[in-house]
Amino acid sequence: MKERWFVPYRYKMVEKISVPEKSERWNILKSGGFNMFSIPSEKVYIDLLTDSGTGTMSDKQWSAIVSADESYAGSRSFFDIKKSVKEIMGFDNVLPVHQGRAAEKVLNSVLIKEGMYVPGNTHFDTTKAHIENAKGRCIDVTISESENSNSNYPFKGNLDINRLEKEIEKVTPQKVAYILITVTCNSGGGQPVSMKNIKDVSKIARKYGLKLFFDAARFAENCYFIKTREDGYQNKTVREISNELFSYSDGFTMSSKKDAIVPMGGLLVVRDINLFDMLKPFVILNEGYLTYGGMSGMTMAALAQGLYESTDFEYLHYRIGQVKMLGELLKEASIPVVTPIGGHAVFIDGRRFFPNIPEDQFPAQYLCAALYEAGGVRTVEVGANLADRDPDTGENIRPKLDLCRLAIPRRSYSFEHMMYIVETVKEVFQNSKNITSGFQFDFESKGIRHFSSTFKLVDSNKDSLFN
Ligand code: F0G
Repeated sequence: MKERWFVPYRYKMVEKISVPEKSERWNILKSGGFNMFSIPSEKVYIDLLTDSGTGTMSDKQWSAIVSADESYAGSRSFFDIKKSVKEIMGFDNVLPVHQGRAAEKVLNSVLIKEGMYVPGNTHFDTTKAHIENAKGRCIDVTISESENSNSNYPFKGNLDINRLEKEIEKVTPQKVAYILITVTCNSGGGQPVSMKNIKDVSKIARKYGLKLFFDAARFAENCYFIKTREDGYQNKTVREISNELFSYSDGFTMSSKKDAIVPMGGLLVVRDINLFDMLKPFVILNEGYLTYGGMSGMTMAALAQGLYESTDFEYLHYRIGQVKMLGELLKEASIPVVTPIGGHAVFIDGRRFFPNIPEDQFPAQYLCAALYEAGGVRTVEVGANLADRDPDTGENIRPKLDLCRLAIPRRSYSFEHMMYIVETVKEVFQNSKNITSGFQFDFESKGIRHFSSTFKLVDSNKDSLFN
């Protein structure tokens, strides 16, 4: 374990950014229906909407791009990915896809039949949508500690083993398509899953003859948490931990836009050669030939290199340390952040931040909009808007937590940027108890509604979100 916290890189290229005028920010918010996705990124000062495809590539990734192989069939850059996956995750059967949700689409098209279930720890929204699109259903069996934004439990992404087993028995194992573990659990607050929990889940999977898959978008950050929080792993390297973690699974989907630090790219990897053969035609039909699958050679070359860089301990120690520092500074200012601080993002509890905005008036969405109004900082709601409606009853799902996510792009923002974010959040917090009304839908889009729905103020007389 390193004693000192240091930045393990320096900047070789910069991009100019600036803060739009306050009146312009208000007009942008209003004309876009207070939806964060409708804000042009040029009008954002610090963009914390996502850590996906927003990381800064290294000199080594850029040089891999220069020497990438753009061949359609048998691209050398694809074999570079195969080598990285073998060394870091231990698998041979690799299918390239253009991004994470494409891997989800292919896997679920093959594994799910109508009426089947996928138990797991709070499935990501695209994952859930693909499972439901294939006429399956998700069962969330995350441990109850995840519902308490104040609890300091170190592995809040864990699955509740007893509940998992009960749910399997209830729906019958024949109706379980597979078990899914998301590492780290994005929707649950970027919280990690322990190696012990993964082992226990894999035992259950074996007991019932079920397959266990990972959503591995942030696998390296999960491995970092295992190394620093779980007994017995302190002296193991991140890559050793990664190899062990994946050894318990039957494969994984991965959005490479996160931990592989590339703007685009994804992977679908399986152990079973028969399943691999069944998946191939879906990749060819939807994504592209088996040695590029929707990625350019340049993307593949950068992805292969990015996998090595993201499993470097010094990089992870700084990366997760930066997110933690932001969270700690907010906590010191009494901002209700989800603890422990997650791997890729700081999550603020919208209901506790705005205790007087009624729960069904989207307090976390209100906070996202207020942060943009206050300082041009863009964040995203992971709460009641994102949770959408129950596909069977049509009722609004009321999530356990209504969160505003401050996702930190990898290797992109400095300490000064973090301080600016803290000041912006504090400014909104000052008057937060006096805000008594929030948003209602102006237009509610059908299916994955948070991307394109718009809101209006419940109190239409407001000319700012601060009063
Ligand atoms: N799984 C997880 C856990 C994710 O966080 C994402 C994307 C996906 C799958 C889908 O991957 O975007 O490459 O198709 N998360 C982004 C985010 C969009 O902002 O958290 P994708």
